[in-house]
Amino acid sequence: MTNQRKSDHIELFSTDSDIERGGNYFDSVHLIHRALPEISLEEVDSHTIFLRKRLTFPFMISAMTGGKSDQLIILNQNLARAAERVGVAMGVGSQRIALTDKQAVKSFQLRQYAPSIPLVANVGAVQLNYGLQLSQVDEIIGMLEADAICIHFNPLQEVIQPEGDWNFSSLSEKVQAVIEHVKVPVIAKEVGCGFSLPDIQLLKQVGIKWIDVAGRGGTSWSRLENHRRKSHGS
Ligand SMILES: Cc1cc2nc3c(=O)[nH]c(=O)nc-3n(C[C@H](O)[C@H](O)[C@H](O)COP(=O)(O)O)c2cc1C
Repeated sequence: MTNQRKSDHIELFSTDSDIERGGNYFDSVHLIHRALPEISLEEVDSHTIFLRKRLTFPFMISAMTGGKSDQLIILNQNLARAAERVGVAMGVGSQRIALTDKQAVKSFQLRQYAPSIPLVANVGAVQLNYGLQLSQVDEIIGMLEADAICIHFNPLQEVIQPEGDWNFSSLSEKVQAVIEHVKVPVIAKEVGCGFSLPDIQLLKQVGIKWIDVAGRGGTSWSRLENHRRKSHGS
């Protein structure tokens, strides 16, 4: 099911351009052109350190995909090669599928393609209410040889998904248990709707130090999942 969902997502992006809402926070940033920069380009250094590794500039390919089909395997391998080549970080899509379907593991074994950049593992917070064990969180991190793990929060997407998981109770405590258990940084990540101030306060209280707000600039997951509801006849 998860593999089909991941393939549906890729397909729907290519057939409904309005899933990309077109809002772009960079639109509010106006860079003033300098005709007399008065420095050599060689003096410009955009590098930064992220997860103890050097990036050529502060950029991360965010979590998107993985699964057992050749399309998803090749997609992840190519993203990893590209990220390594330009020196940016890469996150993978939810690795839940690889816990139940070993054929999907290959799509997350990306260290060989990206030996030097930060790779970030991924799993949904709500899965902690549906049997995800701490040992499986270790497994997810291990298969990617990840430098950190993103725990994603996607309640809006889950409630619209035909096969979504709807029990979001007491997740903050369970996230705290993950933070205390794993050996890598834990990043709290939304998937496109952003975190409110109370969310961030709660995450901080349970020990989260890293947050990817994934604000509502681009992808509309409610629109995308709504298409999937129709195609699933629900
Ligand atoms: C095809 C696709 C699949 C995604 N799958 C995941 C996922 O498995 N886990 C996750 O944390 N985020 C996932 N995301 C969310 C992105 O990582 C990102 O947070 C989101 O698209 C918000 O960025 P945007 O507003 O620029 O689109 C996915 C995004 C896309 C486009």
